[in-house]
Amino acid sequence: MRLEGLGRAVRPLIRGNSLTVVTDENVADLYLNRCIQSLKCEGFDVYTFVIPPGEESKNGKTYLELVNYLAEIPLTRADALVALGGGVVGDLTGFAAATYLRGIPVIQVPTTLLAAVDSSVGGKTAINLPAGKNLAGAFHQPALIWCDASLLESLPDHIYQDGMAEVIKYGVIADAGLFELLKDREKAKNCTGEIIDRCVRIKKKFVEEDEFDTGVRQLLNFGHTIGHAVEKASDFAVSHGSAVAKGMAMMAEISARQNWCSSQTASCIRQLLDLYEFDLTITQSKEELYDIMMADKKRKGGYIDIVVPEKIGTCRLQRLTTEELGDIL
Ligand SMILES: NC(=O)c1ccc[n+]([C@@H]2O[C@H](COP(=O)([O-])OP(=O)(O)OC[C@H]3O[C@@H](n4cnc5c(N)ncnc54)[C@H](O)[C@@H]3O)[C@@H](O)[C@H]2O)c1
Repeated sequence: MRLEGLGRAVRPLIRGNSLTVVTDENVADLYLNRCIQSLKCEGFDVYTFVIPPGEESKNGKTYLELVNYLAEIPLTRADALVALGGGVVGDLTGFAAATYLRGIPVIQVPTTLLAAVDSSVGGKTAINLPAGKNLAGAFHQPALIWCDASLLESLPDHIYQDGMAEVIKYGVIADAGLFELLKDREKAKNCTGEIIDRCVRIKKKFVEEDEFDTGVRQLLNFGHTIGHAVEKASDFAVSHGSAVAKGMAMMAEISARQNWCSSQTASCIRQLLDLYEFDLTITQSKEELYDIMMADKKRKGGYIDIVVPEKIGTCRLQRLTTEELGDIL
């Protein structure tokens, strides 16, 4: 898929004639013109809304500015939004699309590895509130996800690496072949398109079975319960991908200790994370992480479901009481 083909793919899906492309300043410099050209070639009137890069933009103020902008144009229910960017742009745009006029179509054009394999797929949209991340959101499936893997070539190394944590996660939970492929970094770098494809297929399968995240979709959270706690404890100084990598390493170690998986499985997971140069040290105390996990929005009353790797490519949910969680950390 090339960015140039976007307009042709969008045309049959959208009845209206107006599109608003939402992007951030970094991505706008790199790809906005190509995106606009592709859409204009199909006769669309194209509007743009450019936000500052970074998580700080995924807030209520920017959201209101965006929907007010859409109302001024005005965009109708037959029109659509295009999210050109990483997960921040995707989540914000998706949430605006879910709520503006009670819902208009959104097209996701991911430009980070994380957005390509994770955030653009599955229809979760959100903005952050002062009280926490992703606290206001909606499920709103994109009308189209258009992923041009060549757009990822301009990513700074650390942002690419962040997305690799999610890619490794897919290998551990559902695709031993992918896990094997990742062991050769050079080869993996040259197969980005194939890797994205495999990850998306896994996420799509889980989402189709459990769109609203009450069952099998939770398996996608491998490493995330501990990861979110690390991220939060560091006041988000530790990036999402690094935190998930630490969470996966710790869960693997716990699982081996509890005999939920073999120590060989746990060390394979750790070795792959090492190969991708993740710093797996956790500086926070177990007590601090536990307290944060207790406040997790995914906790259900007196228990919490954590994802356990059984062997590479297979995992399951393990239900723990809050006391049991405290004991195994
Ligand atoms: N909806 C979901 O299911 C879901 C899943 C996981 C994460 N998320 C969300 O995703 C967000 C993180 O997304 P992210 O990691 O993509 O971060 P991001 O969107 O902030 O992008 C990271 C940085 O990369 C830059 N960038 C993007 N594409 C680029 C390119 N092609 N070349 C050069 N620079 C580029 C951006 O300007 C930004 O500075 C978080 O808000 C998280 O909550 C959502």
